[in-house]
Amino acid sequence: MSRDELKVVVTRRLPDEILARIREAASVQLWDSDDPIPYDTLVEWIANCDGLYCLLTERIDAGLLDVGSKLKVISQMAVGYDNIDIAACTTKRIPVGNTPGVLDETTADLALALMLASARRIVEGADFVKAGKWGAWRPMEMVGRDLYGSTVGIIGLGRIGKAVARRLNGFGCKLLYFQRSSDPKDVEFGASYVDLPTLLRESDFVTLHCPLNAETRGLIDKAALRQMKPTAILINTARGPIVDQEALYWALTDGVIAGAGLDVTTPEPLPKDHPLLSLANVVVVPHIGSATIATRMRMATLAVENLLAGIYGERLPFCVNPEVYES
Ligand code: DGY
Repeated sequence: MSRDELKVVVTRRLPDEILARIREAASVQLWDSDDPIPYDTLVEWIANCDGLYCLLTERIDAGLLDVGSKLKVISQMAVGYDNIDIAACTTKRIPVGNTPGVLDETTADLALALMLASARRIVEGADFVKAGKWGAWRPMEMVGRDLYGSTVGIIGLGRIGKAVARRLNGFGCKLLYFQRSSDPKDVEFGASYVDLPTLLRESDFVTLHCPLNAETRGLIDKAALRQMKPTAILINTARGPIVDQEALYWALTDGVIAGAGLDVTTPEPLPKDHPLLSLANVVVVPHIGSATIATRMRMATLAVENLLAGIYGERLPFCVNPEVYES
């Protein structure tokens, strides 16, 4: 098929060089905005389109796929894909691409940054200075907790979890990990496998690196938070709904745990007047785990490669539902 016959929808403004690569291969209908495309517009645009380049903010459900009956590929510029009904895509034999491997180190850096920011009260301290409250040095002012030498529980020792573990080995931490896997190794990347209650009970920091799915939705609920130490800090750079946020607010205000560092929330964006934002012991950043120039460009490039392979009828380099290729 010629370039003009292939049609692709791109759901957000992208860097020029990324768009240029797509435009060389297909005619592009671009949602030229920094805000998400409305669902109804996407439904309208998806008819007669061969490929979709989307972000994690789009809901890709069975209804949309029914309209996009010509779709040959869905390429998401993210490693996570909980916004996409993968089973429905597989039924329709539409390969779905994602961007694994290129954002692990960047996301692990942010998890460490949140651990340190929360434990060492970095945001609170910076606000204190800006508010003109910095007085004489006082022995117990702005005291926090050490990451160095602490016990860190990693939930989900996949690529990002392992990158976090490698960093924490350098901080002299004792590492525990838990994940739902049929055959976990006793020790991996210096982290010992334990069951979830043990991890929650023994960790000074609990950091989430599991995907969002039916098993992990609400995993950190009231009961889980109750098992944590009153001095513990919860870090979430995975997906907001893994944590029951009302329970988290309760835990943070009732002294059940000491603090939280969140890159992901429910909803996103978190409204300015959300109760969590009124707490001094919470650091919230706006889903920036992978947000370095180099990493976002690598993600965008991988997503283009998946998209182009898909519209040309080739196997996607990174496909989350390879079953579509089974005859
Ligand atoms: C992902 O890729 O799933 C992250 O949440 C955004 O980089």
